[in-house]
Amino acid sequence: MRTVRFGIIGCGMMGREFASAAARWMHLPQMTVRPEIVAICNRTLAAPKIDWFKEHVSTLEQVTSDYRELLGNPDVEAVYVAVPHHLHEEFYLEALESGKHLMGEKPFGIDRSANDAILAGIERHPDCFVRCASQFIFFPAVQKIGAMLEADAFGRIIEVNAGFLHCSDLNPDKRINWKRVLEFNGAYGCLGDLGPHACTVPLRAGWVPLNVRAVLSNIVPERLDDQGRRVSCETWDNATLLCDMKAPNSGEVFPFTLKTQRIAPGQKNNWYIEILGTQASARFSLNEANALDVLEYEPGGEQTWGRINMGHEVAYRSITSEIFQFGVPDAILQMWAAFLYELEHGDVPSSFARCVTPAESVLWHRLFTAALQSHADGSTISVT
Ligand SMILES: NC(=O)c1ccc[n+]([C@@H]2O[C@H](COP(=O)([O-])OP(=O)(O)OC[C@H]3O[C@@H](n4cnc5c(N)ncnc54)[C@H](O)[C@@H]3O)[C@@H](O)[C@H]2O)c1
Repeated sequence: MRTVRFGIIGCGMMGREFASAAARWMHLPQMTVRPEIVAICNRTLAAPKIDWFKEHVSTLEQVTSDYRELLGNPDVEAVYVAVPHHLHEEFYLEALESGKHLMGEKPFGIDRSANDAILAGIERHPDCFVRCASQFIFFPAVQKIGAMLEADAFGRIIEVNAGFLHCSDLNPDKRINWKRVLEFNGAYGCLGDLGPHACTVPLRAGWVPLNVRAVLSNIVPERLDDQGRRVSCETWDNATLLCDMKAPNSGEVFPFTLKTQRIAPGQKNNWYIEILGTQASARFSLNEANALDVLEYEPGGEQTWGRINMGHEVAYRSITSEIFQFGVPDAILQMWAAFLYELEHGDVPSSFARCVTPAESVLWHRLFTAALQSHADGSTISVT
């Protein structure tokens, strides 16, 4: 078993999820490569955040608040960088300069120019393996949708609807955090935060947004800060996009809606995708994460939605029984399996078993940049 020694930069929510996934590697009996976390970096080294890592990650050798110190560690082969969006460009580029393989976080640059700079850095360092974190494509039901797409099972695509809905900011008394501050989260607001996840399946399918009409809302324009002061909350809470989407193989164009909402009453963490086609349709929502609804249509026949109860039918085999239900931490484990498998073997078992690529991030940056302009102008903008 090959071991890849990792450093984590940014020990927040996602850094902890990676540490937990690495600790559950025994779930993956066919992997010939595994991660070992040897270094962590966080802006502050205060308890309890850092103590949690020290307590649970027995392989830890370096703890620092200076990311350059971690990148200078020759024992670190790969890094997971999970920091606020304004730091992506600088941290990702320096990680590449130091020759580390990189799992970056979305949106992979706070804006399009940061994304351009990161992509240029990747070109300068072809020996570094680089992917972007996004786990929802690894849900068994989504893997099945991927297999249907690869088999061209949908026929002509009629319409696709994708989105990611949260109610996390419905409470106007919730304190502001970096994700609600323009400087740290960026002008995309909820689009940069939630939109990349919603784009994963459409972009992996090879569909290309041609244009966009976007309506963006700032529903709670002020919030309390840590000191209880009322400060402005400038980021977009909700976004609804309507696009002409092109399927390059057939040249057909169909409507695509993308919704990312921080203020969606009744929702918690609902990533969804619905694909309607002339021969088959499918829909999946994290609200019923172990169900996949499929309608297969024969001309003149009945239109019957059927429900498949999904279990643990995963891209990277798990010791967990196939009949056991699957959850977000399982998807994160599968995502890391995909990263390490591709790093080791240079390819993945199927196209939907691959982590998001830097090239896919370019497409969502084009879309979100056009969406900002569409909202500002009240018009439809070409995605170029
Ligand atoms: N894949 C997902 O489902 C998912 C979910 C949430 C967030 N994210 C992404 O992960 C990234 C981090 O988000 P999060 O929710 O983990 O945020 P977080 O606030 O929980 O954690 C970010 C961490 O980065 C640290 N940090 C800030 N500045 C730093 C610096 N200069 N040097 C070192 N560390 C620094 C902070 O102290 C904090 O611990 C973002 O890009 C976000 O979009 C992804």
